[in-house]
Amino acid sequence: MRSLFPEFPSGRSWCDLFSKRLVDAGRSRLLAFLFVLVAAISLAQSPVKSDANAAMNARDPKFEARVESLLQQMTLGEKIGQLVQYSAGQPTGPGTGRSDYEDMIARGEIGSLFNVVDPHQINIYQHLAVEKSRLHIPILFGLDVTHGFQTEFPIPLALASTWDPSIVEQASRVAAVEAAADGIRWTFSPMVDIARDARWGRMAEGAGEDSFLGSAMAGAYVRGYQGSRLDAPDSIAACVKHFVGYGAAEGGRDYNSTEISEHTLREFYLPPFHAAVTAGAASVMSAFNSLDGIPSTANLFTLKEILRHEWAFQGLTVSDWDAIAELIPHGIAGDGATAARKAFNAGVDMDMVSSLYHEHLVQLVNTGQVSSSAIDDAVRHVLRVKFALGLFEHPFVDEAAAPKALYRPASLDLAQAAAERSFVLLKNEHGLLPLSKNTQTIAVIGPLGDDPSHPKGDPPGAGPRISFADALAQRIGQEHVLRYRGAGILDGDDEEIATAVAGAQKSDVVILALGESPNMSGEAASRADLGLPGRQQELLEAIVKTGKPVVLILFSGRPLTVPWAFEHVPAVMAAWLPGIRGGPALVRTLFGEANPSGKLVVSWPRAVGQEPLYYNALSTGRPPGSVDLDRPPFDVASRYVSRYIDQMNSPQFPFGYGQSYTSFSYGPTAIINPRLSAKELDSNLMSDAQPAFIAEAAVRNVGARAGDEVVQLYIRLQGTSTAQPLRMLKGFQTVSLGPGETKRVKFELPARTLAIWNDRNQFRVEPAKLTVWISPDSASGTPAEAEIAP
Ligand code: NOJ
Repeated sequence: MRSLFPEFPSGRSWCDLFSKRLVDAGRSRLLAFLFVLVAAISLAQSPVKSDANAAMNARDPKFEARVESLLQQMTLGEKIGQLVQYSAGQPTGPGTGRSDYEDMIARGEIGSLFNVVDPHQINIYQHLAVEKSRLHIPILFGLDVTHGFQTEFPIPLALASTWDPSIVEQASRVAAVEAAADGIRWTFSPMVDIARDARWGRMAEGAGEDSFLGSAMAGAYVRGYQGSRLDAPDSIAACVKHFVGYGAAEGGRDYNSTEISEHTLREFYLPPFHAAVTAGAASVMSAFNSLDGIPSTANLFTLKEILRHEWAFQGLTVSDWDAIAELIPHGIAGDGATAARKAFNAGVDMDMVSSLYHEHLVQLVNTGQVSSSAIDDAVRHVLRVKFALGLFEHPFVDEAAAPKALYRPASLDLAQAAAERSFVLLKNEHGLLPLSKNTQTIAVIGPLGDDPSHPKGDPPGAGPRISFADALAQRIGQEHVLRYRGAGILDGDDEEIATAVAGAQKSDVVILALGESPNMSGEAASRADLGLPGRQQELLEAIVKTGKPVVLILFSGRPLTVPWAFEHVPAVMAAWLPGIRGGPALVRTLFGEANPSGKLVVSWPRAVGQEPLYYNALSTGRPPGSVDLDRPPFDVASRYVSRYIDQMNSPQFPFGYGQSYTSFSYGPTAIINPRLSAKELDSNLMSDAQPAFIAEAAVRNVGARAGDEVVQLYIRLQGTSTAQPLRMLKGFQTVSLGPGETKRVKFELPARTLAIWNDRNQFRVEPAKLTVWISPDSASGTPAEAEIAP
């Protein structure tokens, strides 16, 4: 097969370097590649459309001449300098490489610094770069701005639970405005890793388990950060991470290896990255994990073939923290020079922290192990982003103006609205919630009720935060709020529990605020047990035993396995880590001024042994069908199916689930155009002009108060060349309904909704039986059926 790809320096083509499996699959991918190019890179299974930010997808002629002219003036050392990044502030990983940044900057040896948050310090470094270095190339300052800069929004898992990409876009805009005013023009966000395993702490940082929803959120983050023009002073470059498969860490243990078939990679793990790239993401971060034995930071297939060739990505790739040096413990490099060579030749432009590019690239070029034209390309990628951001024109930050961008009233209001929309009401027996306005005395019990820092995710920042108990006291008066810690998150004693029990007895209602501290989710925070940590379960049971009405608020970066609570506590709400305005948002929600509309973006497990647990699983050859999984197997038919003998297969609460203070009823799903042809759909795969497939259902508010409902559309395809999931989300809409109001909710979906990655790794519509549900979650609804004819 003739390679379309450039020659590798050794004279071998890229294709020669791929494994046999990849070479064998090469032809089909080549077809897919051509197909995608012709189709203007819009295959993401996402409703996101490209926008002005697509500047990063194509070489902007405006910058190209400047990039080339600068490149021509650069020495090899200066070029490599642009590919080097260090952390110069609070470290977010082990070690920082070095500390003599000032001298290095003056010599043009650093292209980017991150973790510097003081605008004055940013200016000091920038003055050195712009005034002391020979070519005056500005530094690109980065930071993990992941759910707000100082105005801290709910964690990304919570933001996704709003099912509202416009909230995510607005929140990211606020984050960009605040960060850019501080001098930070690059965020390592969004994290778009599919997370199917709640043990993995980084589930908190993404949009959950579904790639359709994840794609919508990915595009929204990019549009929010990058704005309508990347060179606007309040825009920041996005960095989509972690490319790729990081969320599939075996055992849910962070940094662990992943094994993902190419089919599963393309069908589930890649689409959110593609959506972000299609929306114009300026950069992509290579992940820590190995993928099918090849570390992602040295993976030619993902970084070159998919990202650069199939998706035509023109932006910058950066390694994760020290990930180039980690190629040594991964076992694919014996020394730093080999690690640098492998990462660079696989397509990692910039070295985050490891210092190995700084130490070895000159020598690698001089010995012909890295080509100088590849160096030029990588430098182009960096310079393109710097020019696109307008850094050459405006390298400095206005230190006096920076604070004015922070904590603006509208930003705080948005943080509160986002929190209110992110809460997921899991249970509400006998209408305990909302609380009656006449409730006299409320006991706030638990380690997370009275701690102003508890809603905090990872960004630092003081800010106007307020604990839930204080927000409640502001509302109903100090004298009506009884506060007891009851237990710590991890510690506690009998006496403290007894004091809380006595306090509960003096109240009308108890609000129990239990869960995880912020540092129990996120990076390096995998858990093998998903229950309440420490003595919180004992506290919970003791309080429930008082017989007082109990509302349990779970604060966490993941679903927690608390089956006892779901059985014995009348009202339970997942509040996640709700951000700077989480306290007031909770108070408004508990009193019914905000009606919960959040829905789960991850399947909520009954037991940790069910993980990884995700709704869009395959049927298997032995689906349990009508077997009652609540009973242990008792005969051949109930035993030899895909099941546990000691636990149900189903989650505690399914993906898409969430209650409201009102109730909604769904009419049957109707497919408006049931005559579908695979051939015709295939020829319209790229077209959004005509909906290819229309379905609708009536949704009625059958309760007594107004509410918002996230209406979801799922499909199943049977008879296809590759086994397809039991259900796949393909559409969602939020409708607002007054009491007694009905709306017909219509989904008009493009042809690609019905396409799959087939047995030849092509994205195609195949003849199939199609089942469609318009439903409140992934486990209910009345299906409609249609045939996709050849
Ligand atoms: C390591 C994390 O994996 C990544 O998400 C983050 O952006 C970098 N550290 C920088 O802090």
